[in-house]
Amino acid sequence: MKYLVFALVLLVTGHLWAEIESRAEVLLKRMTLEEKLQQLNMSFAFDTNAVPAATKAARGGLGSIIWGYCDPVSRNAIQRAAVEESRLGIPVLFCNDVIHGNFFTFPGSLGLACAFEPELFERCQAYAGREAKAEGVDLAFAPMCDLARDARWGRVSETCGEDPYLSALCCAAQVRGFQKHVAACAKHYCGYSAVTGGRDYNDSEVTPWTLQNMHLPAFRAAVDAGVLSVMSGFNTWDGVPVTCSRYLLTDVLRGQLGFKGFVTADWAAVGQIVNWGCAADDVQATALALAAGNDVDMCSSAYVKGGKAALADGRLDLATVDAAVLRVLRVKEALGLFERPYCEPAAVDGVRAAVAREAQDLAREAAAKSVVMLKNDGALPLRPTVRKVALVGPLADDRREMIGSWCGRGVATRETLAAALRRELPKGTELAVVPGCQTRLEPPKKTLQDGTVVYDSSQPDGDFQLDIPGAVAAAKAADVVVLAVGEAQFMTGENAARMDLGLTGNQPELVRAVLAAGKPVVAVVCSGRPLALPEIWNGAAAVLYAWQPGREGPAALAELLTGKTGPSGRLSMSVPRSAAESPSFYNAPRTGRPGSGQYRDVNEHGAKYPFGYGFTYSTFHYGKVRIEGDEAVCTVKNVGACAATETTQLYVSQKACAAGARPERELRGFRRVTLAPGEQTDVRFKLTDEVLGYRDRGGAWHCDAGDYEIRIAKDAASGEFVNYARR
Ligand code: GLC
Repeated sequence: MKYLVFALVLLVTGHLWAEIESRAEVLLKRMTLEEKLQQLNMSFAFDTNAVPAATKAARGGLGSIIWGYCDPVSRNAIQRAAVEESRLGIPVLFCNDVIHGNFFTFPGSLGLACAFEPELFERCQAYAGREAKAEGVDLAFAPMCDLARDARWGRVSETCGEDPYLSALCCAAQVRGFQKHVAACAKHYCGYSAVTGGRDYNDSEVTPWTLQNMHLPAFRAAVDAGVLSVMSGFNTWDGVPVTCSRYLLTDVLRGQLGFKGFVTADWAAVGQIVNWGCAADDVQATALALAAGNDVDMCSSAYVKGGKAALADGRLDLATVDAAVLRVLRVKEALGLFERPYCEPAAVDGVRAAVAREAQDLAREAAAKSVVMLKNDGALPLRPTVRKVALVGPLADDRREMIGSWCGRGVATRETLAAALRRELPKGTELAVVPGCQTRLEPPKKTLQDGTVVYDSSQPDGDFQLDIPGAVAAAKAADVVVLAVGEAQFMTGENAARMDLGLTGNQPELVRAVLAAGKPVVAVVCSGRPLALPEIWNGAAAVLYAWQPGREGPAALAELLTGKTGPSGRLSMSVPRSAAESPSFYNAPRTGRPGSGQYRDVNEHGAKYPFGYGFTYSTFHYGKVRIEGDEAVCTVKNVGACAATETTQLYVSQKACAAGARPERELRGFRRVTLAPGEQTDVRFKLTDEVLGYRDRGGAWHCDAGDYEIRIAKDAASGEFVNYARR
């Protein structure tokens, strides 16, 4: 039956594509070469001054635009110029970086992946897509399907972590969510996160084995979920800029994954093939990129400048250009842009208000589930007996740093942590709020008309009113200290590599002073990457790692601190001991000498906190894993004092794989179970080929007969295995 349904879906989809193909092909036959090259050209407009030029370009057949300005009226004016004044009336595709929210901001994806609940991504991105569509965005440049392995790389904040299985589920869910309203864009294809040294825009060395089994799975899942576009990465693969890698863009993406949509380069990456030293000029760069399968030139104008010459001297053939144009036209058809090219400016405020109303609880739930409790000596949840709380640190009374590094226009959290904590603490509890320092040495802030607090970059950098003594005094006078620290908002994201994984600005000095005050300290850490904070790990009584929790982050944290909600997040990315051991990730091969070859100058090895790690407010006991037929079973019991949600994880390990050294263990299933005190349940996972297997270098799936170590554990570093002999 399943196969019959699948065949029907294929038939319908194929028919749909064929239908779109015929309409797009008719249009293609009428297009001039100039119009074809313009259709493959993506420009940008970020403010009102850019509108006249964009309108003129639309009249001339511009294919797509990065619409950072976001004004729906101007958007329709540009679109009207395309639809009603250009020769063929082909609508412009309006694109934007809607990464974890458009105006209403959800948690950043590295944090949200810690919920181990892909369905949350689908719900959040559906709201983000709905809001963006209302403003006239047709395509969101998300999900980011890259695999995070190096905390020095600033863009780990945009990924769904270091595990390919979890990332694949989360990215496919994002595609489903977005594409209820707009086209999604799986980026940055492929291997971009493996940049040398964690330095953005660098080369990346990824073998075919690692590509197939680590970096491709999330893209494969996005393609299987029907993603309509893919963005090629800034990196090289096997020495070739991905933007002109025929192997990756055509042989693998279209040949192996079956991708049908269009590929856009990343910003100016076509022109930058010249910078890589792989093309002499735009003409050669155009020929290489189009021939490789890169359909759209984002913001380098190389195609419109070099396309004609590349065709004239035979380095590019027209059939390649036509195929690229068809793919772009088909996505526009699939989006209904020919029938409904305009948005409704009058509806924007209503949609925004509806999303803010409807999505607030979801955003708070998502933020709460993204927080990982790394430690708790009993200080959490704050007891009712606690009568005086000191809330110190730069994130105590701030609405910027938690919002995330790709927050779109959701410029601030709804409230500060101080306001949320004041609401959630028991009546009569004293709360002293002393930020003590900033997250960075930056210009002072200013408050906009709507109350949003932003950095006032018009002022010179200045020494802030540091008040570390004030923070220490508040700590000494309190029963418990909540220390809210983290990375400045733009210390992660694009072009934000770091050599050091410590706190920024004056925070290290503040942390040392507050820890020395001698009171129990609960650390709340917000960051777009895992940080190495040994003083906090050792000195705090409890640690909540909150990543970039978005607009409802403060509300979620206040509920977790007071116990209204219990923490359930599990690390989507390992927390390294220091930047020196990056890249570091759990799913590494055994090596020929397991446990040897460690650094000589330290005596603690491996991640400080491994992938999958995290505590709840209760305690769970895992029984021995049992094999029952083709299932792995484990009895999990809540042996603590309160109900809680535990994320049980299935790890597999093939003991002898002649095709290549597989990871010492790989996540291949997880199940969140909510149990009352004393309650237990059997957690079961079927050991199918899909769970046990791997891909060969050509992308074919294999599941070898032989022995496998099977674990059902609370994180990637725990759990005894049981042997499973697959025949
Ligand atoms: C940037 C980023 C990419 C983004 C694009 C459009 O350079 O690499 O993630 O979607 O340009 O802004």
